[in-house]
Amino acid sequence: MNNFINFDDFDRESVEEAIEIGINEKNKFYSEDFEIKLNKKFGVLLFEKPSLRTKLSFIKALNFNGINDIYFSPEEVGLGRREKVSDIAKVISKMSEVAILRTFKHSTIEEFSRNSSVPVINALSDREHPCQALCDLLTIKEKTENNLNNISITFVGDGNNVATSLAKAILTFGGTFIHSCPKGYEIPKEDLKVIEDLQRKYNGNFLIENNLNVSVKNSDIVYTDVWTSMGQESEQRKRIEDFKNYQVNEKIIETNNAIFMHDLPAHHGEEISENLVDHKNSVVFDQAENRIWGQLGIIKKIV
Ligand code: NVA
Repeated sequence: MNNFINFDDFDRESVEEAIEIGINEKNKFYSEDFEIKLNKKFGVLLFEKPSLRTKLSFIKALNFNGINDIYFSPEEVGLGRREKVSDIAKVISKMSEVAILRTFKHSTIEEFSRNSSVPVINALSDREHPCQALCDLLTIKEKTENNLNNISITFVGDGNNVATSLAKAILTFGGTFIHSCPKGYEIPKEDLKVIEDLQRKYNGNFLIENNLNVSVKNSDIVYTDVWTSMGQESEQRKRIEDFKNYQVNEKIIETNNAIFMHDLPAHHGEEISENLVDHKNSVVFDQAENRIWGQLGIIKKIV
């Protein structure tokens, strides 16, 4: 049985296959002969945090794979509060073919998967957002002429779940990942170790550059995410102050003629200038759509 909890749970070949499946299914969908084949499999979505793109795209990806969906909202779940995580995992294993979890703590998903006999997919935790990263690779393949090993991407902002999974994704293909952040907001040490191992294995580049303007020079892509992630709301004021020199704006994108990416939701006027999402170099809405196609590939690989 396979899981997809950390990006590096998939090797390069599996990532490539999942992306290829996504691209092929997308092409098929837009051709005339696409047929949705329904059967009796079920996928359960258990979310502790709000979601727009992840929920919608997973429901579509499950359905396109012929798998029915059931969604449990943050109020309904009570993971570890209303009921023990291990009990929930065992019940869901009896009644479904895949569990898709969005949790505060990464350790909750790990505990769930230790008690689950069906595959578990991480739909965002405090440490990783692996599905976002795999789908982002699909978008990068679609939007650039370069092979992934020639891609240079600057991630501006917090060394959070999105940054961690994306760095692992880029380094799995030997690309260049530059992290631009204020001191103290680097990717956590445990994950840096995995990233450095991937860097060595695939001959990529991982750099931390505190100076924003220096960090984006020669990058094909500039990517950012919110400064305050879900669950960190009490730190918001401090974070706005600490990140105030790290806003991605038109000038940064245009000076470097870079592609602009953001996993959304965006805080306009904070990590990005107002309406940057609509700039001609922005691919954020295609990026959002590609959550369907990449996740379709992930589900086909492991369910
Ligand atoms: N880093 C953000 C990503 C949202 C999709 C968060 O965890 O809230």
